[in-house]
Amino acid sequence: MLHTPLTKLLGIRVPVVQGGMQWVGLPKLVAAVSNATQCVITALTQPSPMALRHAIRETRAMTDKPFGVNITLLPTINPPDYEGYAKAAVEEGVKIFETAGNNPGPLIKFFKSQGCLVIHKCTTIRHAKSAEKMGVDILSIDGFECAGHPGEDDIGGLVLLARAAKELKVPYIASGGIADGRGLAGALALGAAGVNMGTRFMCTVESSVHENIKQKIVESNETDTVHIFRTLRNTARVFKNKVSMEVVAIERRPGGAKFEDIRELVSGQRGRIVYENGDPDHGIWSAGITIGLINDIPTCQELLERMEREAEEIIGHISSLSVNPKAKL
Ligand SMILES: Cc1cc2nc3c(=O)[nH]c(=O)nc-3n(C[C@H](O)[C@H](O)[C@H](O)COP(=O)(O)O)c2cc1C
Repeated sequence: MLHTPLTKLLGIRVPVVQGGMQWVGLPKLVAAVSNATQCVITALTQPSPMALRHAIRETRAMTDKPFGVNITLLPTINPPDYEGYAKAAVEEGVKIFETAGNNPGPLIKFFKSQGCLVIHKCTTIRHAKSAEKMGVDILSIDGFECAGHPGEDDIGGLVLLARAAKELKVPYIASGGIADGRGLAGALALGAAGVNMGTRFMCTVESSVHENIKQKIVESNETDTVHIFRTLRNTARVFKNKVSMEVVAIERRPGGAKFEDIRELVSGQRGRIVYENGDPDHGIWSAGITIGLINDIPTCQELLERMEREAEEIIGHISSLSVNPKAKL
C-alpha cells in the first residue's frame, strides 16, 4: 500500500483524488470514486445552493465515505452565489473542499474558520505560495497537460512539480496528464503526495457522460485537444471538434475576437448537451491530453486497483535498480 501525507490527511487508501468537473462531478460518480478513494461534487453544476444540498444528500445515500465539494471561482461579470454554496455545503456537514480559480482568499478563510480541510488547485508556483500563506492544507498543482484551465504560463507538470518539491511547505498533489499507475509513480517520484485526475474519471462506468463520448475518448489520442480562449487570456483545454476549431479560427482572425463573437459557440448549455445526447460536435467539452492514455471504460474501483498495482510494480522496479556508489559523471 502507498502511504503518503495525502492518504493520511484524507483517510484514503490510494493516493488518488478526483477534481471538480462541471456537469460531470455528479452524485453517482462522486459516490463511486469516494467509495474507493476521494472525490468532490462540483458545486456550480448545481443551479443553486439548495440544489447542492440535495446533491450532497443524494451522494451520502450512496456512500458512507467522506467526499468533498469543489467551488470554482470564475472570471465572470455576474458571479454565482459562491458564499451561499459554501455555507450550504458546510451546513450539510462537508469537511473537505477543493477551491480553484481567481481570488480564493475569502472562501479559504471561511472554510478554515469552519474547521474544514482545503485543497487549492492552481497552475503556478506563485499562486501555490500565496494559497499556502492563506492556510490551505493541500495544493493541487495543475500542469499544462490538464483538461480545463491550465493558466497562461504553459508550464508542464514536470517542471512545476520539481519546483513544488523545492519550494512548497504543505503537501501537494500532481494534477493534469495522469491516467495510470505510471503517472502516479512518476508524481510520487517528483515529491507529490498523490494525484488528482479529471479526464480519466470521466471515462468510467459510473460517469454519467453519454457512452458515445466515452467511446470517443477511448478512440482519440493526445493530439485531439485544443486550447480555446487563448486570446482572451482565459485559456481552456477542450476536445478538438467542429465547434472548438471554429472558436479557434474566430480567435485567430485579424483583429482577434471579443467574447461576444464566440458566446453562442461556447455556451455551457451546448457543452452540457454533449454529455447527454452523445454528439461530440454539439458544443465545447473539456478533455485533457490523457485521452491518449485512455483505452478502456473501467469501473472506478477497477481503475484505482489497477493504478495502485501498476504504481507499486514500477516503484518496486525502480527500487531494485542497483546504484553504483562510485559512479561519477
Ligand atoms: C469535463 C471536465 C470538467 C471540468 N470542470 C472543472 C471545474 O468545473 N472546476 C475545476 O476546478 N476543474 C475542472 N476540471 C479540471 C479537473 O478538475 C482537473 O483539474 C483536470 O481534469 C486534471 O487534468 P486531467 O484531465 O489531465 O486529469 C474539469 C475537467 C474535466 C475533464
